[in-house]
Amino acid sequence: MLKDKRIILGVTGGIAAYKAVELLRLLTKSGADVHVIMTRSAREFVTPLTFQTLSANPVHTELFSLIAERDIGHITLADRADLLIIAPATANIIGKIASGIADDMLSTTVMATKAPVLIAPAMNVNMYTNPVYRENEEKLRRFGYLFVPPEQGTLACGWEGEGKLAAPESIFEAAVAALSPRDLVGQTILITAGPTREELDPVRFITNHSSGKMGYALARTAQRRGARVILVSGPVSLPAPNGVELKPVVSADEMLTAVMARAGECTVIIKAAAVADYRPLTRSGQKIKKKGDELSLRFVKTADILARLGSLADRPYLVGFAAETDNLKTFAGKKLHEKNADMIVANDISRSDAGFHVDTNHAVLLFRDGRETECPLMSKDDLAAVILDHIVSEL
Ligand SMILES: Cc1cc2nc3c(=O)[nH]c(=O)nc-3n(C[C@H](O)[C@H](O)[C@H](O)COP(=O)(O)O)c2cc1C
Repeated sequence: MLKDKRIILGVTGGIAAYKAVELLRLLTKSGADVHVIMTRSAREFVTPLTFQTLSANPVHTELFSLIAERDIGHITLADRADLLIIAPATANIIGKIASGIADDMLSTTVMATKAPVLIAPAMNVNMYTNPVYRENEEKLRRFGYLFVPPEQGTLACGWEGEGKLAAPESIFEAAVAALSPRDLVGQTILITAGPTREELDPVRFITNHSSGKMGYALARTAQRRGARVILVSGPVSLPAPNGVELKPVVSADEMLTAVMARAGECTVIIKAAAVADYRPLTRSGQKIKKKGDELSLRFVKTADILARLGSLADRPYLVGFAAETDNLKTFAGKKLHEKNADMIVANDISRSDAGFHVDTNHAVLLFRDGRETECPLMSKDDLAAVILDHIVSEL
């Protein structure tokens, strides 16, 4: 996700400096080339060796270092960065940046870079609410510095309140958003995800293997790119992406109601959920007892949500998913025209590296004018980006 991105991670002297190790791990795991700069105070809390080992890059500590300046000078580092993150950021570094002070490696690099700067403050609640600090933060926000606000909680100093460093996952998410194109600003995108459950009795239900990973990747990526996202989700065990409006549903009927209620406010609808095609004709009020050797159940068709959306007079841009085990393109092409969709994402769920549960997918995108785009095996996050790229160009 952050492949080929060069990120400077500035670590300053707060007790939360150890959490920057976890942030570094998240950044490198997603492909970023991370260069750590530590202030003198930060080195009182965590050793440079930890960051150097995990980043596989030298850690910068001194502005006036002959060797470091020869290998990669302080301006070169600032010039080459795609993003500069300061986590944790002390009241001191924020005050220095706001005052234009550049008296060490980190503050000088911040001053010299043209890259976006993302600041994650962490400090005692009285420092955080101090009017001097508040004015410094306001000033930096006005100048376009990005902030990941601290959380409420018990602080290391024993005080209760705001000032606890945001979770590394939230800082990571803000970093990805800062590096994403903002090409979906102004769009409202509804995404359905996960399976549906059709109850037979109070203990049993019919469902499918959908994990929701593809729909959640689409929701996360669309939100990072500036869209307002409504995620209508069947029962899954995934956390809701930051900033996304989640509408949990259980059955196909509930999904239909939720989607149709919001369709009017959407510019795009992406139907990534695996909705039951049939549901039991009746739901028994009591547990169905074990009796004879065989049990027959009767099913009725559920409503076809994609077709309903396709028949709306003023319909949004419509993307459907086709999960097939055979004749992939034939079935997907038929679905595209019969349901009056604009794009079908067809994936072959007979493969072990695509479709349900796994983190990767292999898909073909089919369009109304007959165009086809083959997407090789890639992560669901990357496929989400490709699908959204196509939507942006189609809109
Ligand atoms: C144990 C300890 C914990 C500290 N924690 C914080 C903190 O969480 N946030 C903060 O702004 N300052 C904290 N400080 C104060 C900073 O370390 C101090 O302001 C220092 O000058 C910051 O330098 P730097 O911004 O160059 O890293 C702490 C100091 C000590 C001794």
